[in-house]
Amino acid sequence: MVRTEQFIQKAKEEIKKAAGERKVVIALSGGVDSSVCAALAAEAIGDQLIPIYVDTGLMRKGETTRIREAFSHIGVIVVDAGDEFLEALSGESDPEKKRKIIGEKFIRIFEREATKSGATCLLQGTIYPDCIESDGGIKSHHNVGGMPPVTAFETVIEPLRDLYKDEVRQVAEALGLPAEIAHRMPFPGPGLSVRVIGEVSRESIAIVREANAIVEEVLVEKYRPWQCLAALVGRGTGVKGDNRLFGWIVSVRAVNSRDGMTADPIEIAYEDLSFIASRITAEIAEVSRVVYDVTPKPPATIEYE
Ligand code: XMP
Repeated sequence: MVRTEQFIQKAKEEIKKAAGERKVVIALSGGVDSSVCAALAAEAIGDQLIPIYVDTGLMRKGETTRIREAFSHIGVIVVDAGDEFLEALSGESDPEKKRKIIGEKFIRIFEREATKSGATCLLQGTIYPDCIESDGGIKSHHNVGGMPPVTAFETVIEPLRDLYKDEVRQVAEALGLPAEIAHRMPFPGPGLSVRVIGEVSRESIAIVREANAIVEEVLVEKYRPWQCLAALVGRGTGVKGDNRLFGWIVSVRAVNSRDGMTADPIEIAYEDLSFIASRITAEIAEVSRVVYDVTPKPPATIEYE
């Protein structure tokens, strides 16, 4: 705890010193990293901080509403950019190109908003494992390697760059952030797009969003996974009512991990898996089949793209 308190003090001083009199923007994602950064900065520099939330249309169910509610007191700006992202992704099925498209679109929209606000500093919630994975070239993570040069900003401040996720959560608790945020599962920058293999559409994103919500509802409280998710991994034949359906195959994944670099699948009770399968197939008309992924990382990554 003493270390946490010291960290908070040091991080606030760093933000204050780096910002000076300038305005600072942060992209809020609803995840614990950017939320902690915003909370630190709000304490350090007050209304010099401009939090911006870009709704990419690729967010989890209810995320935008949650963010509006959680950050309205620090004046969060919500940008509705779902159509823009879908248009940019149209026709693209290569995983890394999808990531790059999202990363570029994101930063352009963000720069546009930042320019309007007159901010010249960027505050980012990059944590230690983000840096290692990008240097290692495993996937181009959107908040570091996959992002185009941050041309519009004079200064980039990354106060969490030496922390692991569990340390960020300790800081979140010490700052008094709600448990819903402090213990929020990690969610990738490119959002639900990495949970649909191949080309995305409004329909496939809506389906995977619903499937993710069901998986979270059934598993989070009971298993406290480091991360759990659902992905659309292909199509398979099924029968629903009197009709054959060449529907979506949903793969469910639940893992424990310290930092996302390695991960172990969780042994979910069969009755819970079965309940997830029946809910998903009953509640989502387009899904014909549900499977559970038992692969550790490595060799499989946590996300599907
Ligand atoms: P993988 O799939 O590489 O994921 O095993 C490790 C952790 O990182 C998250 N992840 C991402 N986070 N941008 C992010 O900000 C990304 O492009 C990205 N891809 C994966 C993933 O959810 C897991 O927590």
